[in-house]
Formats: sequence, structure tokens, C-alpha cells
Amino acid sequence: MNNFEFQNPTKIIFGKGTISKLSDEIPSNAKVLLLYGSGSVKENGIYKQVINALSNYNFIEFGGIPANPEYEVLIEALKIIKKEKITFLLAVGGGSVIDGTKFLASAALFDGDEPWDILSKYIRTEKAMPFGTVLTMPATGSEMNSGAVITKASSKEKLGMGGTALFPQFSILDPQVIQSIPKHQLANGITDAFSHVMEQYMTYPIQAKLQDRFAESIMQTLIEIAPTILENPMHYQSAADYMWCCTMALNGLIQKGVPTDWAIHAIGHELTALYGIDHARTLAIIAPSHYRYNLETKKEKLAQFGERVWGINSGTKEEIALKAIEKLEDFFHLLNISTRLGEYTPEFLGTAEKIEARFIQRNWLGLGENKTLKPEDVAKIVTMSY
Ligand code: NZQ
Ligand code: ZN
Repeated sequence: MNNFEFQNPTKIIFGKGTISKLSDEIPSNAKVLLLYGSGSVKENGIYKQVINALSNYNFIEFGGIPANPEYEVLIEALKIIKKEKITFLLAVGGGSVIDGTKFLASAALFDGDEPWDILSKYIRTEKAMPFGTVLTMPATGSEMNSGAVITKASSKEKLGMGGTALFPQFSILDPQVIQSIPKHQLANGITDAFSHVMEQYMTYPIQAKLQDRFAESIMQTLIEIAPTILENPMHYQSAADYMWCCTMALNGLIQKGVPTDWAIHAIGHELTALYGIDHARTLAIIAPSHYRYNLETKKEKLAQFGERVWGINSGTKEEIALKAIEKLEDFFHLLNISTRLGEYTPEFLGTAEKIEARFIQRNWLGLGENKTLKPEDVAKIVTMSY
């Protein structure tokens, strides 16, 4: 196991009816900006619960943060934060609204002239405006981590940011919110969380037995509950399992002391930036090809995944590893998620070269747990996914 430090300051308030607890968490003298997405919260009753909980607060609101939150929209919210002297941000939404809020928390206290620099120059956020979240969609883990991903629509770029000041002060997780999530978004959430675990697990053995079993247990739980979640999102106990799996998949815990990959996400973000494909689906497109291409370096963990998660117990290590990748693809298909780029866009030819050129331009010359995947390898992986 590698050395590590672990600190996660986010307070989680989990369970039925917890949105009403908002008023225990936000300072009473705060001037609050309530942020939300394209309007689902107004249809499913979450907005009403939030407004009721904020009844004694001085607050204004900013709606309309799109999925894959856009810099251009967020800049409008930033103007309001400055003009209205906002002191606390409250995100009510999924990963997109929460990530957008993280960007605003950072940009509000940013010293430079051009907030996009936070993303394009990889500036870490060590000071930020305080913020909390009400999670409406389990998937990203953003509710308990310090990362965010922001899109610049004008240049079709999607870049990450992070820093110690970007943990939410609190996150309210009421599993009942999943009742109104459309089926394809539930499938996305399961796929994203599953992929987060894989990015922190499918590397090489390092004798971190507990981290391995944390990771395997999250994947096993997601596989077990997926059919119930898709068929009956009213099933509270499964909703609770689903929500907690998603948070635990990316709150920093399972990656401590182990190597991590994240190449699938890096490549996937380009597919969203170029074609607008849902984040989770980009991961399902890239993961099988990535694992087949890197079979040699990932064989041990792929085989462990095959044995422990899928119960494959005959064959050589390589055979089990290859079977495990097939099982993974079957799982995505069971969720009704296609694993071929060509099924999402007719413009797929040439994608590999485009992404290769972008990575060279950004100097991203070594991806993956061994930092050995060059832009030309990335191009081969993308081509395999056509
Ligand atoms: O726009 P609204 O009205 O919020 O509707 C959303 C959106 O259309 C809807 N939705 C959310 N909760 C709902 C609901 N519809 C009905 N009932 C509810 N309770 O679902 C749609 C998708 O929402 P979004 O927030 O975009 O989804 P998700 O949580 O998957 O977030 C995706 C974004 O997070 C980034 C992704 O790249 C993408 O931009 N990620 C953030 C990470 C992080 N901060 O740690 C890690 C991830 O790997 C990921 O990159
Ligand atoms: Zn993800």
C-alpha cells in the first residue's frame, strides 16, 4: 500500500425527509444563492421542499444550469454573486449543478481576470465561497468530493478543476429523489459510479486488500440493485443503496494508497465535448476497448474482478480477464447503454485523430496508472470503440 493522507470534511445528511434539515446547516445571516438546473426540481417537488426549508433566509435563485455545466451560463451567475453580495451557495441538482456551483465558489474568490484560467491552467482552488448541496441525482460523487468538470461551449472543451476548498460543507442525500429520474438517467448514474470504482481499481495489484474489497463491494452492490432501480425507483431500500454506492465510489476513500487510472474519463470527456454524449455513456464506450488494449498491464486486476465480482472461476488469468470485459459489456447492455461510438453519432470517423491532436496540444503525453499511454495509444483505443 502506498502512503496516503485522507481528509474529507463534507457532512453527509442521509435519509428520508432530510431536505427540511437545510436550515440547520446554513448560517442564519447568510445571503444565499440557490442554484438549480433546467427545471426538473420544480416538477418533482424538490424545489418546494427547499424553498420551505429556506423560508427564514435571505435568498435569491439562479436556474438554468445545463447538463455538462457551461462556463458561459455560469459567468452570468457569477455576476449575480458579485452584484448581490452573496455569501453562501446552495446547489440543488445532480453533478452538473453541483460542479457548476463549485466553479462559482472558486471563481467568486479568484484573483485573476479570466476565470476560465482555473480550468485551462489547472489552478488548484485553495479558497472558495462556502457552499452546500441537495443531491437530486446519484451518479458523480460530486456531493462529497472536491472535483468539478466544466464545459466551454464556444470551444467544445470540457476540463476538470479541483482543490481542497471545493468540498461541499454539507450534502443532503434523500434517496426518495430518484423517484422522478428518467430510466436512462438512472442507467447513467449506475454506469458512472461503476466506472469510478473501476478507474480506481483496474490497475495493478499493490496489496491493498481493504481498498480492493471496498471497490468490489460497491461494484457487486450496483450489479445487484441495478434491475430493481430501473424497474422500480420507488423501492426505497434499493434507492438508498444506490445513492450511497455512488457517493462512496468517488469520495476519495477507495483510492487511498492505490494507483488510479482515469484515462477512460479523460477520453470520455472529449466525446461529451465533441458530440454532447452523456458523460456515463462515454465511459461505457471507452472502457471495454481501454481494457482490451491494456490487457497486459491490467490482466491481474481484470482477472481478480472476473473472479470476485463476476464469479468466473475457470480458465487462465488472461481468459478470465477477457471474459470479465465481456461481462462488463453485458452489464452496460443490460442497462440499455450502447458501448459503440458509432451508435451515438454518425460523425464518428476521425474522432480518434481529433482527440489525439487535442491531447498533444495540451501536453497530455502519458495517461493511465503507469503514465505510459501516449496520444497515439489513445487514438487506437478510440478507434477500437467505433
Ligand atoms: O437540469 P435538471 O433539471 O437538474 O435535470 C437533470 C438533467 O437533465 C436531470 N435530473 C437530475 N435530478 C433529477 C433529474 N430529473 C428528474 N428527477 C431528478 N431527481 O438529470 C439530467 C442529468 O443531470 P446531471 O446533473 O447532468 O447528471 P449527473 O449527475 O450525471 O452529472 C453529470 C456531470 O457531472 C460531471 C460530468 O462530467 C457531467 O458534466 N462529473 C462530475 C464529477 C465530479 N464532480 O466528481 C465526476 C464525474 O466523473 C463526472 O465527470
Ligand atoms: Zn464519471
